[in-house]
Amino acid sequence: MKLLVIGSGGREHAIAKKLAEDATVTQVFCAPGNPGMKKDGIEVVPVAENDQAGLLAFAKEQAVDWTFVGPEAPLAAGLVDAFESAGLKAFGPSKDAAMIEGSKDFAKQLMVKNAIPTGAYQTFTDFAKAKAYVEAQGAPIVIKADGLAAGKGVVVAETVPQAIAALSEMLEDNKFGASGARVVVEEFLAGEEFSLLAFVRRDKVYPMVISQDHKRAFDGDKGPNTGGMGAYSPVPQIPQEMVDEAVQRILIPAAKGMIANGTPFTGILYAGLIATEKGPKVIEFNARFGDPETQVVLPRLKSSLAAIISALLADEKPVIEWADNAAFGVVVAADGYPGTYEKGRPIPLIEDPEVTVYYAGVSETAGQLVAAGGRLFLVEAEGENLPEAQEKVYRALAAAKLTGMFYRKDIGHRALK
Ligand code: AMP
Ligand code: GLY
Repeated sequence: MKLLVIGSGGREHAIAKKLAEDATVTQVFCAPGNPGMKKDGIEVVPVAENDQAGLLAFAKEQAVDWTFVGPEAPLAAGLVDAFESAGLKAFGPSKDAAMIEGSKDFAKQLMVKNAIPTGAYQTFTDFAKAKAYVEAQGAPIVIKADGLAAGKGVVVAETVPQAIAALSEMLEDNKFGASGARVVVEEFLAGEEFSLLAFVRRDKVYPMVISQDHKRAFDGDKGPNTGGMGAYSPVPQIPQEMVDEAVQRILIPAAKGMIANGTPFTGILYAGLIATEKGPKVIEFNARFGDPETQVVLPRLKSSLAAIISALLADEKPVIEWADNAAFGVVVAADGYPGTYEKGRPIPLIEDPEVTVYYAGVSETAGQLVAAGGRLFLVEAEGENLPEAQEKVYRALAAAKLTGMFYRKDIGHRALK
């Protein structure tokens, strides 16, 4: 098989690398990819993820067997629909089904209709009404831009003035443009977060092993929110009953609800959950793999990812087996991230055979990988248990010469107290 992956981050590096492991896969392309992927035999194709015509033409020209769409933006723009209309196979939700991530209001309505546990909420377009609601509810309270905002559209406000400031930025100052012209104001949920992802084909839901991301930039969960600074799997402090309950009360009703809604979902469904005293509750749905969760979930997949996706595309039952081990990943980011940061610093080679490096915001100058984004790469290792995997990753990082870059030293702290 010849396969194409759309996207350019560490998530897509992990997906493409895993696909390439199948003996029946002869070639994996990644568009636009990043030059760090080449070490794993992934062929980087210079076509942008929003260039639908260019991607279609490439897939046809290369007779690609199927395409896997990694990020939310091309899904929300209808890339899978465009491929299907052209008679090509692509794995991921349609434009309408990607609304489960593309509109928080859509996701909330789906949850209410299907009795899926989540925080109480109201949706507003009018600043004065939203402000009155926040004043009546009090803090803490959560303000969310309705549309896609590259992970920056959520404000967990600890005080009412903070919440009002966030509402004002979104509804009055159009900080997120159309994405923030509508806001969801949501009840604050207390508890530990975890990510539950599943392969979904319409009403069929095949859950993956759970993982936990670390969204804040600095140790001790301090500092601004980021796209994720590290992740690990399993998450031993989340009991299996909590996960089973989430599959039964969240993932399966969501898949069925999407069919009833006329927007059946096929692709990777990601539930961002909080383990509350009353069981798991949804904080967000995503229509794709998570980053950096993918980099610690896929290494634990014993079965062939290519065979799973092929089976789902053919409406057959996939074989999905997970290793009983642990995987651990730490992101290295440019100093200043998630604010402004420098580009162009050389990326050190990490050649420790015990770890895998997944590249993200990197480009290439004269054969040398250089920093080109905020999150640069992730170092991942597996072990029999989390402490073993953690030790390998931090050992490799300690030996690396990192200039102008930083990473969190406490990934996994909730599991490894
Ligand atoms: P998101 O961008 O949707 O992933 O949200 C960013 C972060 O905000 C999440 O990882 C949570 O830590 C936090 N968050 C979102 N919704 C809630 C909520 N209802 N209660 C508490 N924390 C939340
Ligand atoms: N790790 C969070 C996300 O991918 O949305």
